[in-house]
Amino acid sequence: MSDKEQTLSIIKPDAVERNLDNEIKEIFKNNGFQIVKEKKIQIEKSEAEKFYNVHQTKPFYNDLCAYLSSGPIVVMVLEKENAVLANRELMGATNPNDAQEGTIRKKYGISIDKNSVHGSDSLENAKIEINFFFKD
Ligand code: CMP
Repeated sequence: MSDKEQTLSIIKPDAVERNLDNEIKEIFKNNGFQIVKEKKIQIEKSEAEKFYNVHQTKPFYNDLCAYLSSGPIVVMVLEKENAVLANRELMGATNPNDAQEGTIRKKYGISIDKNSVHGSDSLENAKIEINFFFKD
């Protein structure tokens, strides 16, 4: 029996726009993640609103959804033991200013909005988020 988990990762428009997607994918692979599914897409604002619906009461919700739909993104299913937590550690704090050295957001993030990557925050949400982008 394997205790591998899957989590959803998104390389956000600020990083794709700077052509950082391959570099960020290498970081995941070098940290033991297998990219089991991936696609580069651009989503409608209405889809971003559904994806981020847990944040719908937050003051930043509208800007967040406008931003995620503003350009191409790379969505990936990452697999590894304890993938959800491992990915959150590798991404670093939501605000790049608070992120530790060696994390993706510290290295590439521009601001709390343009923080280069999204990752599921729990195993339960990982399943929901994977199903959102990869229904099969
Ligand atoms: P993400 O992990 O994609 O989840 C929700 C996003 O909302 C978060 O990254 C940030 O980019 C964005 N965001 C903007 N303002 C805030 C805030 N004050 N607190 C948390 N997230 C925020």
